[in-house]
Parts: sequence; C-alpha cells; structure tokens
Amino acid sequence: MVDVQDENNPAESPEMIKPACCDTFVVKKKKLGVEYFSLTFGPFSKIRACRPGHFIQLKLPDSQVFFRRPMSVAGVIPQNSEMEIVLKVVGRGTSSMSRLKKGDPVNILGPLGIPFKLPHRNESAVLVAGGVGVPPLLFLAETMISKGFDPEKILFYYGGRTSADIILRSRIKSLGVRFSPVTEDGSYGIEGIVTEPLEKMLNGAKGEKLRLYACGPEGMLKAINNLGLKYGVDGQISLEALMPCGIGVCLGCVVPLTEGGHARVCTEGPVFDIGKVAL
Ligand SMILES: Cc1cc2nc3c(=O)[nH]c(=O)nc-3n(C[C@H](O)[C@H](O)[C@H](O)COP(=O)(O)OP(=O)(O)OC[C@H]3O[C@@H](n4cnc5c(N)ncnc54)[C@H](O)[C@@H]3O)c2cc1C
Ligand code: FES
Repeated sequence: MVDVQDENNPAESPEMIKPACCDTFVVKKKKLGVEYFSLTFGPFSKIRACRPGHFIQLKLPDSQVFFRRPMSVAGVIPQNSEMEIVLKVVGRGTSSMSRLKKGDPVNILGPLGIPFKLPHRNESAVLVAGGVGVPPLLFLAETMISKGFDPEKILFYYGGRTSADIILRSRIKSLGVRFSPVTEDGSYGIEGIVTEPLEKMLNGAKGEKLRLYACGPEGMLKAINNLGLKYGVDGQISLEALMPCGIGVCLGCVVPLTEGGHARVCTEGPVFDIGKVAL
C-alpha cells in the first residue's frame, strides 16, 4: 500500500485535518500472526488526507463495545478509497475487531491527530517500532519510498518479545530499507531490547544527519526520547493513551509537557517532538 500525499515541509507544523465520520465496510481481512490482524476498510471519503501518524476512531457493530477504539492508519490505497489498520488483540474491542468479516459494516471517524513530519532529504530516518507500534511506521516507510526517498537512508528497528511479535517482516524487507529486528529472547534478529542496538548506532553515527521516529510501549518511547536528547538527534514519538472521545473534548488523554501545562494526545498528538512531553 502506498500513499500519494503532497510532501509536507518538515519545518512547518502540520495542521489537523477536518475528520469525516463515515459508514463503511471491511473489504479485506488477513491474519498476520497468533494475535495480529490486518483489516482493510473502504470506501473512506478522506483517504487522500491520511498521513503516517494519523489515527482513526473505530466504532464496531458490537453492542458490547460502546466506546470507539483508536487505531493507527497502517496504509492507504487512494485509488480504491481503502484504508488498512493492523491490530493486536488485547481486550474486548480488539477481540471484536478480530472477529470482523469481509462485508461487515464499521464506522470510521478520522483522520485524527497530528501526523509525522517527513525528514529533510539529507537526513537518514531512523524508525523504531515496538510491538504493535509498527503500523504508523510501516506507513511512514512506504510513504517515503513512494516519494523517492533512498531506502538505504531508512533504518527500520523493530523490537518485540519473541519472533511472533515481529509481524509484516516480508513487507518491510521488500521496501529495501535497512531492517534490524530485535527480540528479547533472541528468536529472531538481534537478541535484546531495541534501544540497545539503536544506542550503539547513535553512538557511532558521528556527523551523520539523523531523524528519529518511534511508536511503541511507553517505556520504549521514554528511552528513545532520552536517547534523542542525549545524542542531540531530533525526531518524533507517537504516544498512546486511553481515548474516550478522540476529538479533544473529554480530556481523558492528557499528558504533562516538559515546559509545563498539558496536551491532549488525541488533538495535539499523538505525534510529539522529542523532548516535548514529560514522560
Ligand atoms: C493513537 C493510537 C493509535 C493506536 N493504534 C493502534 C494500532 O494501530 N494497532 C493496535 O493494535 N492498537 C493500537 N492502539 C491501541 C488500541 O487502541 C488499544 O489497544 C485498544 O483500544 C484496546 O481496546 P480493547 O477493548 O481491545 O482493550 P481493553 O479491554 O480496553 O484493554 C485491554 C488492556 O489494554 C490496556 N489498554 C487499552 N487501551 C490502551 C492504550 N491505548 N494504551 C495502553 N494500554 C491500553 C488496558 O488498560 C487493558 O489492560 C492505538 C492507540 C492509540 C491511542
Ligand atoms: S480522547 Fe477525549 S480529549 Fe483526547
């Protein structure tokens, strides 16, 4: 899946796009692993507005699941008006999603939030995914490739507990990016936690222009935020929070900022510059 968005200027802060609330259908479902699924929905009227880092609030046709669930956009097929999400089953909402079938109706509110800013052409992009944080970074890598960025200048670190947590690996490899899978038990790729080889690379990358992008569990994001500050590498992290509304109304998703005050992850985020949020 690729996107045909206009290139954004990394120096500009992207504005939040007016979301659509759209009844649509499951057009494709794929099992990606024991607990992982890809779902493609369409048609969706705002497909051309979707950027890597955007998310949707998904309403399920399940009376037991009242609140919408936030899901990152994992990819788009603009010519078909279709959008993909990738999910891990963790509770009632995601379990209900995993039971959806082709043709089932859903309601999508989106695209929501502030997306990633693309890197400058002279920078290497260092993407760091942890577990089910991979969807927005896969979308970012695919978007960069579709825009002619050099795949050799995209470093894709992907950490998981075991081999089973490193999903979509052939799709990532097919992009030709520098792929570094890392597992805690060593069952696939480098053994350890993803921030270890990342720090080794940052430490050895004297003079190289880098930009970090990360999405994953809070502990990993905190470590990457600190590494960015320690090595003077700019970048962005995509945060998760419980999101009752997703549109800035309920204040259920606020996080403290380093400069004081708070921000809503759903509207001022989920993508924040490194150093912005007090993690
Ligand atoms: C902006 C954003 C993008 C996201 N993108 C994706 C994605 O692409 N794929 C994906 O699988 N998941 C994604 N998530 C996480 C996903 O929304 C939650 O896992 C989901 O809402 C859980 O719903 P549930 O009903 O299955 O679980 P629940 O029954 O609500 O919860 C199950 C367990 O997960 C915990 N939990 C629930 N939501 C979160 C959360 N947001 N962060 C941390 N812990 C949580 C609960 O405390 C509980 O322990 C995203 C979250 C956000 C905020
Ligand atoms: S989820 Fe309601 S304000 Fe962010």
